[in-house]
Amino acid sequence: MNNYILSPSILSADFARLGEEIATVEAAGADWIHVDVMDGHFVPNITMGPFIVATCRRITKLPLDVHLMIEQPERYLETFAKAGASGLTVHVETCPDIVGTLKQIKSLGCRAGAVLNPETPVGAIQPALMEADLILVMSVHPGYSGQRFMPESIARVSEIRKKLDALRSSAWLEVDGGIDTETLPKMKEAGATAFVAATAVFKHPEGPTAGIRSLRAYF
Ligand code: DX5
Ligand code: ZN
Repeated sequence: MNNYILSPSILSADFARLGEEIATVEAAGADWIHVDVMDGHFVPNITMGPFIVATCRRITKLPLDVHLMIEQPERYLETFAKAGASGLTVHVETCPDIVGTLKQIKSLGCRAGAVLNPETPVGAIQPALMEADLILVMSVHPGYSGQRFMPESIARVSEIRKKLDALRSSAWLEVDGGIDTETLPKMKEAGATAFVAATAVFKHPEGPTAGIRSLRAYF
């Protein structure tokens, strides 16, 4: 069992060669595959949906870590679960009843995640802490890969780490946005246990295998 998880985000993969890209990161030691679902409402960008999750499910055995940047995510949980998601992570900003939504995700047999945007007060995650299998802290404003890491997110991770430890929670504490060889060690030090990276893996100058290796070196 791994103590740390590396979850490459296919948002920066070459979709003309998606199968190859996923096979490469799987062979290089990726633990999960992160799928960024965006609806053009909650975030400005539009990306992928259940069809791509189902495609990924056919081409890899790795767990699919599905990040739902969509409004009213409860409408689509079952569809994504049926498409083969292993974990479904919903934004607290989109869930008036976050505990109920996390329970719904668990009832579908998926790992239940709750995520916080950079500007959302850390206190907003409090009700989710006991129910969630994963807490995700955004270290960029969600919408695009390749953005600059927000250093103030390090203290947010430390604060949530303390809260999880106080509750003796074994939930994963995941971070997403601008994670690279500079920022991963800082987030790990702050208490993160799962790391999403798009650019640092798929746009690594020596290719995704080197990208995975450079990040895994810190585990
Ligand atoms: C941002 C997405 C991230 C993104 C990360 O909205 O949730 O998963 O793909 O990209 P990098 O690692 O390039 O910041
Ligand atoms: Zn993401």
